[in-house]
Amino acid sequence: RRQFLLSGAVAGVGAAAAIGADQLLRPPATADPPPAAPHGQESVPFHGEHQAGIATPAQAHATFLGLDLRDDVDREALARLMRIVSDDAARLTRGEPALADSEPELALSPARLTVTFAFGPRLVARASGVAPAWLRPLPEFTVDRLLPELSDGDLLVQVAADDPLTVAHAVRMILKDTRSFTTVRWVQHGFRRAYGTERPGTTMRNLFGQVDGTVNPEPGTTDFDEVVWCTDGWLAGGTSMVLRRIAMHLDTWDELDRSGREQSVGRYLGNGAPLTGTRERDEPDFTATTPLGFPVIGEFSHVRRARGDDPTQRIFRRGYSFDGVPAGGEVSDSGLIFVSFQADVDRQFTPMQQRLADLDLLNEWTTPVGSAVFAVPPGCAEGGFVGETLLT
Ligand code: HEM
Repeated sequence: RRQFLLSGAVAGVGAAAAIGADQLLRPPATADPPPAAPHGQESVPFHGEHQAGIATPAQAHATFLGLDLRDDVDREALARLMRIVSDDAARLTRGEPALADSEPELALSPARLTVTFAFGPRLVARASGVAPAWLRPLPEFTVDRLLPELSDGDLLVQVAADDPLTVAHAVRMILKDTRSFTTVRWVQHGFRRAYGTERPGTTMRNLFGQVDGTVNPEPGTTDFDEVVWCTDGWLAGGTSMVLRRIAMHLDTWDELDRSGREQSVGRYLGNGAPLTGTRERDEPDFTATTPLGFPVIGEFSHVRRARGDDPTQRIFRRGYSFDGVPAGGEVSDSGLIFVSFQADVDRQFTPMQQRLADLDLLNEWTTPVGSAVFAVPPGCAEGGFVGETLLT
């Protein structure tokens, strides 16, 4: 009967008239239950105390835009700019076209789209705002080989969703609407597993094959709130964002055997368990030694060095992999778009990065090539705009 209805509909008006138009519209009595809405219909609220895209479980795809302000953009123009892009983001994240959207159909599947804005030092200066002390480029680390064209920027936009077409469309709308205020300094595309490949909540793997993100504050807990959110001034309810583009040299990583790979981090590749445990979430035992008296988790291992001894030096990591076009003679241009959020860069991030620059076996196979620090304003209520605490 279903087949008949369909072929009747395709056959056109004549067939429809023969069986009665009302019958065509009515679902057949034996119809299967309607299929669940596709994942593309899922949306994340744009409005709220904090901006979305930080505590939001990481989506599969993210594009990061580093924009530079045009010379004539003053405080008043900044407020106009942020009003426009906040409106774009509010609509697009709901699955509605932006105003004057030239491809409105592409907006209809938000797929958990979030659009997160953050300000570089020059933007805050243009707004005549009080910049937190940490809002400046990080100190130079010996491991760094930074390229200016992959570093810094005045306005950061993180566009993330579970669908790459959704991300591309939102990026295009944002870039069209920021064109008269900013120029593009850099664009970085990142990815995780495609939506549906693994169970939600599975810790991501990076391109070294490592389980990456196990020890991380849990969104929704007071612990997370303390690590991430600022509490003072126009940044109350906001945070800081460090973005580092870190090349991972897969070609030389290939020369390392499995045990060497596991030693370099201090965790097993199979399930990410510490070398002193069996399950991913087991607490590492940094005091355990081998029969010969060596630490099981080496002093040089990434997790030992990243952890440090000061429990207030913690960050929330929310990175993405990148896989670009290899330069002549090489077969990979891969790595991590390392993204971390923390209330205070100087207090929480920099000492950790300094320790890792001083000693971390992983440095043998990784090189930071881009770096930027941004202040992430709080979220806004409906009718408001991101940045209003700085710009009004
Ligand atoms: C832990 C990989 C860069 C901070 C880990 C782990 C892996 C990993 C596999 C263990 C699992 C986990 O807990 O997530 C990498 C790679 C990097 C990189 C491949 C570069 C390409 C960084 C940087 C920082 C950092 C730049 C901060 C400055 C941390 C922290 C932990 C960690 C805080 C948790 C340590 C703990 O157990 O307390 N990383 N990481 N990582 N990493 Fe990284």
